[in-house]
Amino acid sequence: MPALIVGNWKMNGLGEDIAEIAAMAGAGAGSLWIAPPFTLIDRAVIVSAGALTIGGQDCHAATHGAHTGCVSAAMLADLGAGFVIVGHSERRRDNGERDEDVRAKAMAGQAAGLQVILCIGETRAQRDAGDTEAVLAAQLDGSLPDNADALIIAYEPVWAIGTGLTPTLADVAAAHAFIRQRLAARYGGAGHGVRLLYGGSVTPANAADLLRVEEVGGVLVGGASLTAQSLLAIAAAAP
Ligand code: 13P
Repeated sequence: MPALIVGNWKMNGLGEDIAEIAAMAGAGAGSLWIAPPFTLIDRAVIVSAGALTIGGQDCHAATHGAHTGCVSAAMLADLGAGFVIVGHSERRRDNGERDEDVRAKAMAGQAAGLQVILCIGETRAQRDAGDTEAVLAAQLDGSLPDNADALIIAYEPVWAIGTGLTPTLADVAAAHAFIRQRLAARYGGAGHGVRLLYGGSVTPANAADLLRVEEVGGVLVGGASLTAQSLLAIAAAAP
């Protein structure tokens, strides 16, 4: 299975930045997925002309209704998006999203026919207290959808996001092995088919090492996904 490289643009990008997405699409670099801000999804789908998979960074759990300012999974699919990220730690922090909210969003994404990237990860304090596995287990128990269809799990230690810090490769391997074991316990054989991503300060310099870790099926990239040059260098590092 070739590595999946996913760029999360977060709240970055104006119309002029579509040129970066066009350059990424033009490179024909294998499995590249980009989640631009909602405002650029439409244009990103058009400019990438099928060469990239474009997705959303969040969705509402409901299909439609009185939720001012929100976007449903069906609306993303309607724009031509192929995936949605749910449960990112920045949304848990900024919007108070709880595991049960994340679970509802994941199921809404599946129902709309999207691939769902569900994010989990511990804080620095939780890691220092030796609670990493307990935190990951609780997040998985609370947020996993009923079935593993179209599900991808991203392990993003909160303290590694945007800090330039990454866990050791051994710690990445341990976390991914633990997640795999929990998925197998929850879904049986289907749990083995769920792709796992690592996220948090992935760069062209460390991507090759991270992508070689057992059970790491790709990376979820923030800052280093904003330019074609940097994201394509990460994609080129994939073994
Ligand atoms: P950085 O790559 O900027 O650390 O962000 C990671 C992330 O949060 C991707 O979702």
